[in-house]
Amino acid sequence: MYARRDVLRAGATLGLLAASPWLHAAAPVGLLTRKVPTTGEALPVIGAGTSGSFEVEAGSAQYQQLKVVLKAFFEGGARVIDTSPNYGGADSILGQLLEEGGWHRQCFIATKIAADSRADAEAQWAGSLKSLRTDKVDLLQIHNLRDWQTQLPYARELKQQGKTRYVGITHYLNSGQDEVARIVRSEPLDFIQINYSVNAPDAARELLPLCQDKGVAVLINRAFDDGRLFARVKDQALPGWAAEAGIGSWAQLFLKFAISHPAVTTVIPATSRPERQLDQLKAGFGPLLTQAQQQALIKQFA
Ligand SMILES: NC(=O)c1ccc[n+]([C@@H]2O[C@H](COP(=O)([O-])OP(=O)(O)OC[C@H]3O[C@@H](n4cnc5c(N)ncnc54)[C@H](OP(=O)(O)O)[C@@H]3O)[C@@H](O)[C@H]2O)c1
Repeated sequence: MYARRDVLRAGATLGLLAASPWLHAAAPVGLLTRKVPTTGEALPVIGAGTSGSFEVEAGSAQYQQLKVVLKAFFEGGARVIDTSPNYGGADSILGQLLEEGGWHRQCFIATKIAADSRADAEAQWAGSLKSLRTDKVDLLQIHNLRDWQTQLPYARELKQQGKTRYVGITHYLNSGQDEVARIVRSEPLDFIQINYSVNAPDAARELLPLCQDKGVAVLINRAFDDGRLFARVKDQALPGWAAEAGIGSWAQLFLKFAISHPAVTTVIPATSRPERQLDQLKAGFGPLLTQAQQQALIKQFA
């Protein structure tokens, strides 16, 4: 029954997609982009994550639904998708979906190394390429700084070999930000990935300005605090100023908050639902939040 409901929902959303003229344009005009400082490459500010939401069985109703999610994502002009060999098979599902949809060329694939030795990392990397059904990725990140002194040089070697275009490091907690900042100061990096949200805005104090100074691109994870923010706003109206800022949902507001910091390149919210994907893309249009609006949100969610 659950599966049938999902299939019906996916079908209904396909209908919705067919009825959305802007999704049929070759490249929708106006999805905001930011430049990767080390190359000048422009990337759309709205991306996607795969943790949890892509951890499904190949061929299941949830898998079919993810196909609709990705169709909306790519037709909406988005490109950046973050995954990891540590996400319970999500990278393999992503690889299969990209192949079936013919989306490898459009997709900016960001994946990770999460290993404790060079030998483990080499084996994991070989598995990642197989899972993602590719011979190279766009960004290779050291997951949660794990064994980074060994793994960052390895990622750089892979960059030299043309196996990844960019290297970076990730963390997802405020408590990891000091160490991320230390590494940004001492090592050349293309990207970092960090948590930043209305209820966890600490990165704006030091880390994000540092990345701007050093010319490091930034991916933002947990913009919805892993979904928990939606429980906090249940039955609450959006702030009075949201409509004039072009914001029609709490999801759009949380994503707008993340991309309103000028250091942020792309925010990578996860979703398994097509209608939520369509909604998230809308955050990549229209004006950014003013300082006063950002401060009002931080106060509301403190
Ligand atoms: N250390 C790291 O490197 C690290 C750590 C954390 C995250 N990440 C990356 O960042 C990505 C995003 O972070 P995250 O997945 O932890 O958290 P998130 O994007 O803050 O939240 C995702 C959750 O929000 C739910 N959601 C999305 N839209 C919603 C809506 N409109 N209403 C209610 N719920 C909604 C999703 O469920 P549905 O699927 O049901 O929509 C999902 O469970 C991850 O997928 C991963 O790629 C990296």
